[in-house]
This record gives sequence, structure tokens and C-alpha cells, in this order.
Amino acid sequence: MIYSRIVGTGSYLPPRVVKNSEFAARLDTSDQWIRERTGIVQRHIADESQASSDLALEASRAALAAAEVRPQDVDLIIVATSTPDFIFPSTACLLQAKLGIRNCPAFDMQAVCSGFVYALATADNFIRAGTHKRALVIGAEVFSRILDWNDRGTCVLFGDGAGAVVLASAERPGLHASVLRADGSHAGILSVPGNVCGGRIIGSPFLQMQGAQVFKFAVKVLDEVARETVAAAGMDLMDIDWLIPHQANVRILEATARKLNLPHERLVVTVDHHGNTSAASVPLALDEFVRAGKIRAGHRVLMQGVGGGFTWGATLATM
Ligand code: ACO
Repeated sequence: MIYSRIVGTGSYLPPRVVKNSEFAARLDTSDQWIRERTGIVQRHIADESQASSDLALEASRAALAAAEVRPQDVDLIIVATSTPDFIFPSTACLLQAKLGIRNCPAFDMQAVCSGFVYALATADNFIRAGTHKRALVIGAEVFSRILDWNDRGTCVLFGDGAGAVVLASAERPGLHASVLRADGSHAGILSVPGNVCGGRIIGSPFLQMQGAQVFKFAVKVLDEVARETVAAAGMDLMDIDWLIPHQANVRILEATARKLNLPHERLVVTVDHHGNTSAASVPLALDEFVRAGKIRAGHRVLMQGVGGGFTWGATLATM
């Protein structure tokens, strides 16, 4: 049997840090409101000169170095993003060129905040099929570009960044099981309902969200998909060393861990200093905890995505 295994992680955060006080200085909000309702204290915001492919490049270089894999040995690139550099070419193709490599397949995955988990499951299938051996899987976002900076209900929630993993073929798992789900009937509760048509923006280019509905839906499906994924892997929830849910809101994370009866020490939280970085949030959190020596070889990590579409999913991996 061929399996896939995460053999290196990397991440990148743009240098500019925006604290809650910056919002409080110009909007009807406060540091206290943002902390209490979301757990967010600060987020990183990309410079205008930086696009998703630039953030992805830095994260990829770090993951490749950690895996001791040369760029030319990568045979598949998947970039999960909802904030691509252009309509086309894909951010994955731009990243491939920036890495100085050619010919391997490269494509973007659009599943909003579930994008990284969707991309990881997709790369796992390529590797298990035996056609590819070393995949670079990235979540990269510049959500700051699609926020209405005068809408206090959304602009305080998000940040920019990128996370990456190298997924390589292995004789033992690695990735045990993935479950991916979507329900397009909920498309309206979280969207950027705009498009470019005839040189004009049609609809809105800004993120719109019905926060309370998103909150309830997220907690429900994160609980369900954790149980489904652990069962598909033939394991028990108690076998999980670390839970990395999509980092949307600390209250969503804590409610999920509570419903799953997982001790607080096993819950990975980075939303306080990253904000919600959409498809980048899970690989950013993974890399931070790996580099801090908390997530170690042999640990079982359950990664979860949930976001616009609506989409959700989870992957269970042994590191
Ligand atoms: N500062 C001060 N007041 C605010 C702010 C703000 N930044 N934002 C909203 N409010 C106000 C609202 O206008 C409302 O005022 P009103 O009662 O006078 O109308 C009041 O606070 C309460 O608003 P609610 O939306 O009911 O507040 P809630 O407790 O639900 O918190 C929040 C809002 C934080 C958005 C929450 O619903 C949430 O986290 N939802 C999940 C959404 C999420 O995480 N989205 C990320 C993308 S989705 C994903 O990644 C899964």
C-alpha cells in the first residue's frame, strides 16, 4: 500500500501587525468587544506589493527546507486560496514559476476556509494513486483585499498569511482518513458576491457574512465531521493528540472542543494572534506548533476546515 505523510511544514506572516486598537481608533468598536466576541488580539496584514503567491512562496520555501526536499523534486502543487493573484493564471502556476520549476501539475483549490483540508485530501489521493510522490500543499490568503474596512462586523475578524506542507509518499500513514462535505444551499450566509464583467465590478467585491448563522453552522459541522473522520480512520476521539480547527473565532474553537469532550490542552489556538486567515489558518497553526516542539513525530493531529460554500471537512494525520 502507498500512503502519504507530512514531511515538512512552513509558514509566512507579513510583517505588519494590526492590533485591535487601530480599529477602535477609527470605528465604533473596542479592543474589549473584539477580544470578548472573537478572541482576536492582533492580525498580520500584507503590504500592497505582496500577493498570495508571494506569501505562498515564503511558506513553501520554509516547508521544503524543513522536509529537505528540493523544489525540482516537487511533482504536484496545490494552492488553496480565495484571494488569488489574478482571475487567471492560477496562483499555483505563479508559485511554480517563482520556485523556479516546470512541468509538474499546479492548480488552485477554491473551498474558502476549508481550502487547505480539501487540498490536502486531494494531494493524498494523487499520492495514494501512485502517480505522484512529493506534493506541495499550501493555503495562502490576502483577505485584507476583500474586506470593507468600514464594516466593523467583518473587518476586525480576518488576517493575511500562508502555510505550507510537503506531503510525500510513505509506506505507513501519514494521512489516515479525510472527509469532505459541502452544502451550496447555504451559499448566502458567507460570500463575496461580486464579479468582473465587461470591465466593471458587478455585485459587491467585499466579504459579507451573517455572523450568528455562520457561528452555529460551524460548531455543528465541526463536531460532526470530527466524529466522521475519526470513525473513518478506525480510531477514537481520545486517540487525538491535537485538534486544529479552522481558526475563525476562539468561541467556535472552544465550543467544538467542548462538544467533542477534548481536553483544552489538545486544542490548537492561533486565532488570537493571526486572526482568521481562511485557507491559511490550519497550515499556519500546524507549522507554529511543530516549530514550537509541541506537535511532534508520532502525534495524531485532526485538522478541520469550515467556510463559505458552505464547505467543511477534516483530515486525520500521524506526524
Ligand atoms: N464592534 C462592536 N460591535 C460590533 C462589532 C464590532 N466589531 N461587530 C458587530 N457589532 C455589533 C453588532 O452590530 C450588533 O449590534 P446591535 O445589537 O446593535 O445590532 C452586536 O454587536 C451583536 O452582533 P452579533 O452579530 O449578534 O454579535 P455576535 O456575538 O454574534 O458576534 C461575530 C459577531 C463575532 C461575527 C460572531 O457572530 C462570529 O464570530 N460568527 C462567526 C463568524 C466567523 O467566524 N466568520 C469568519 C468567517 S467564517 C469561517 O471562517 C467559518
